[in-house]
Amino acid sequence: MVGVFSLVTGRHGPSGFGSASTAEQVTEGIDASNLTAIITGGASGIGLETARILALRKAHVIIAVRNMVSAKKAKEQILQENESARVDIMNLDLCSVKSVRSFAENFNALDLPLNILINNAGIMFCPFKRSEDGIEIQFATNHLGHFLLTNLLLDKMKQTAKATGKEGRIVNLSSIAHNYTYRKGIRFHKINDQNGYSNKKAYGQSKLANILHANELSRRLKEEGVNITANSVHPGVIMTPLMRHSSYLMHFLKVFTFYIWKNVPQGAATTCYAALHPSMEGVTGKYFVDCNEFKPSSFARNKILARKLWDFSNKLIDSISKA
Ligand SMILES: NC(=O)c1ccc[n+]([C@@H]2O[C@H](COP(=O)([O-])OP(=O)(O)OC[C@H]3O[C@@H](n4cnc5c(N)ncnc54)[C@H](OP(=O)(O)O)[C@@H]3O)[C@@H](O)[C@H]2O)c1
Ligand SMILES: *[C@@H]1O[C@H](CO)[C@@H](O)[C@H](O)[C@H]1NC(C)=O
Ligand SMILES: *[C@@H]1O[C@H](CO)[C@@H](O)[C@H](O)[C@H]1NC(C)=O
Ligand SMILES: *[C@@H]1O[C@H](CO)[C@@H](O)[C@H](O)[C@H]1NC(C)=O
Ligand SMILES: *[C@@H]1O[C@H](CO)[C@@H](O)[C@H](O)[C@H]1NC(C)=O
Ligand SMILES: *[C@@H]1O[C@H](CO)[C@@H](O)[C@H](O)[C@H]1NC(C)=O
Repeated sequence: MVGVFSLVTGRHGPSGFGSASTAEQVTEGIDASNLTAIITGGASGIGLETARILALRKAHVIIAVRNMVSAKKAKEQILQENESARVDIMNLDLCSVKSVRSFAENFNALDLPLNILINNAGIMFCPFKRSEDGIEIQFATNHLGHFLLTNLLLDKMKQTAKATGKEGRIVNLSSIAHNYTYRKGIRFHKINDQNGYSNKKAYGQSKLANILHANELSRRLKEEGVNITANSVHPGVIMTPLMRHSSYLMHFLKVFTFYIWKNVPQGAATTCYAALHPSMEGVTGKYFVDCNEFKPSSFARNKILARKLWDFSNKLIDSISKA
């Protein structure tokens, strides 16, 4: 209830920001000119606004998407505000292991630093489908592709953190929907089964996986003594192309629940806060809503489940790569 109250009123939490804060507000005065950031899915919705704000704060932004036409438009839109903004676009299809590998190779070959990785791309409530690798499409896109991407970029992030003495940050776009998943959290034994598939629960499962991964990664990085944090965020509820598989339902629901909906500038606030704000320094393995720390579901806090998912994901990728 407290959550709903602050959402409706826009009341600020301990961070000084709340549900009504925009990405521009939460990053005011921050100079990111020495930072390089990759944003997956940065060509539309929350990702595009995140890219715009990071560029506004002078970061070098790499938008990684599968649709290069919309990526070009996104870049042009950002350059209209400032023609010297540093924005590049690169091709990445997260539901293909091959594409993720070639993206990482291409990026690493550029010899750029990497300070910030925003795992933002996502799909929601899709009818059952398997990726080219045979993986259920929401798990493949929202979780597995990002899992591999993060692992392949991690050395670069470690080198950058070491060479610059600056903290690296990984931000995972999860969702409040992580709480609405299958009975056991992750359906390890039935991950690609059409039988018993629920398009809503499969989304919740993939978003639970996002939190579990940020947590497990955070634990590993701490253990290694690496200066990189990993956190996950729920951006709020925002009308974006994400709703394409449920747009009638969502427009209908919005009539009754208009007071919980955010606009896109507000929707990008928690991501940008986690990526840039100085008060996030040293904070890792946490989940944020409206720019404030929030307790996720009990599955999401389960350390054993997090390790199990980590090993499971590695094995899955090995088996795809060998096939
Ligand atoms: N909007 C909400 O209410 C809400 C709530 C909770 C969480 N979230 C999370 O926030 C994130 C951003 O969502 P959004 O609302 O901004 O959605 P969006 O506007 O649909 O943006 C998602 C982006 O991901 C890209 N993408 C999808 N599949 C991809 C793939 N296989 N490879 C590469 N890129 C791919 C899309 O590109 P294409 O144009 O090529 O499809 C698009 O640029 C998602 O992770 C979502 O789960 C959103
Ligand atoms: C960026 O790097 C330059 C050169 O190392 C340094 O002079 C400058 O203070 C840095 N800016 C910020 C905001 O860290
Ligand atoms: C435009 O972007 C460049 C590169 O980030 C930056 O140095 C410059 O200050 C920006 N100009 C304005 C007016 O913000
Ligand atoms: C979240 O972060 C972890 C890094 O621990 C990554 O492996 C996982 O797949 C990411 N998922 C998304 C979509 O954010
Ligand atoms: C991590 O980076 C921050 C600057 O971003 C720095 O203040 C801090 O001392 C670094 N921590 C370690 C353990 O190197
Ligand atoms: C998750 O859902 C359960 C019941 O479905 C509820 O009791 C719990 O409070 C929810 N947790 C969060 C973090 O929303």
